[in-house]
Amino acid sequence: MKTKITELFGIEHPIIQGGMHHVGFAELAAAVSNAGGLGTITGLTQGTPEKLANEIDKCKSMTDKPFAVNLTFLPSLTPPDYPGLVDVIVEKDVPIVETAGRNPAEYLPKLKDAGIKIIHKCTSVRHSLKAQSIGCDAVSVDGFECGGHPGEDDIPNFILLPRAADELEIPFVASGGMADGRSLIAAMALGAEGMNMGTRFIATEDAPVHQNVKEAIVNASELDTRLIMRSLTNTERVLNNSAVERLMEKEKALGENLTFADIVDEVAGVYPKIMHEGTMEAGAWSCGMVAGLVNDIPTVEELINRIMSEANNIIDQKLKVLA
Ligand SMILES: Cc1cc2nc3c(=O)[nH]c(=O)nc-3n(C[C@H](O)[C@H](O)[C@H](O)COP(=O)(O)O)c2cc1C
Repeated sequence: MKTKITELFGIEHPIIQGGMHHVGFAELAAAVSNAGGLGTITGLTQGTPEKLANEIDKCKSMTDKPFAVNLTFLPSLTPPDYPGLVDVIVEKDVPIVETAGRNPAEYLPKLKDAGIKIIHKCTSVRHSLKAQSIGCDAVSVDGFECGGHPGEDDIPNFILLPRAADELEIPFVASGGMADGRSLIAAMALGAEGMNMGTRFIATEDAPVHQNVKEAIVNASELDTRLIMRSLTNTERVLNNSAVERLMEKEKALGENLTFADIVDEVAGVYPKIMHEGTMEAGAWSCGMVAGLVNDIPTVEELINRIMSEANNIIDQKLKVLA
């Protein structure tokens, strides 16, 4: 399927795997790219520029197709070495960067001078327009359904995507709640040029995370996610568990007086325990409502082929018949 996104990134299918903390390693990124989508290594998860360089080398040894590196700009007491990470991305000739979090303008000149394409992930039309105005090549529009940080506007994709389509000139993909061929065709009908998935890609054989994480997604329904950290203006959609319930009790008790220190046990440093050790109650971890649509653990190749064949069937058997 040819769209503005497949053309921009030189990929076969308009399907992107978004950066995911402690999930986006070379194994997953290469599997997605080898299957014709765009895989993404998560920059911050690697820790240092040297480790990111090693992960990029590893990914290159596993695929000769284009892949991306995610750079998430979050407020932090001890900021990561962003300039060092950007230098490595440029030195290693990574063709595409997915930026997320705050405005990436500071790092764009260096990335763009190196010919790197930038897709900025954000959760509102105004931030999408900002990304367009600072020179991003594309946007990933992340609706309220999404796993991770949906922002504070709470606009679901059925409204957000056509709003983005009405205002944006650069191409965009739909992110949040995407799982199958139906999602892809719906996203394109609403104006997107493809889709970005997070949660769905975790429940695959290729995702380098503990089996318990994959099974937790398969076993979850669309009712099982919760929004946390709203009072800190850092809302995150996570899968419910005992740590999340504990955290929400503190939010209820402390209200606007809640500080990050109050919930540090439930959110800080929990990803390695969950993703790699499979200790599912260790803390809060991002997960989308789309878990309700995830019922199996295929390989990435099976998943992407299935999505494309479902999408083509919808076009051939439903849309063409209706036309
Ligand atoms: C476990 C997990 C970790 C994530 N970590 C990041 C991250 O570090 N940086 C980022 O930009 N997005 C992150 N995301 C968001 C995804 O890239 C993607 O935008 C989101 O999952 C899309 O929604 P979906 O889960 O409904 O597909 C994460 C999502 C999940 C589920």
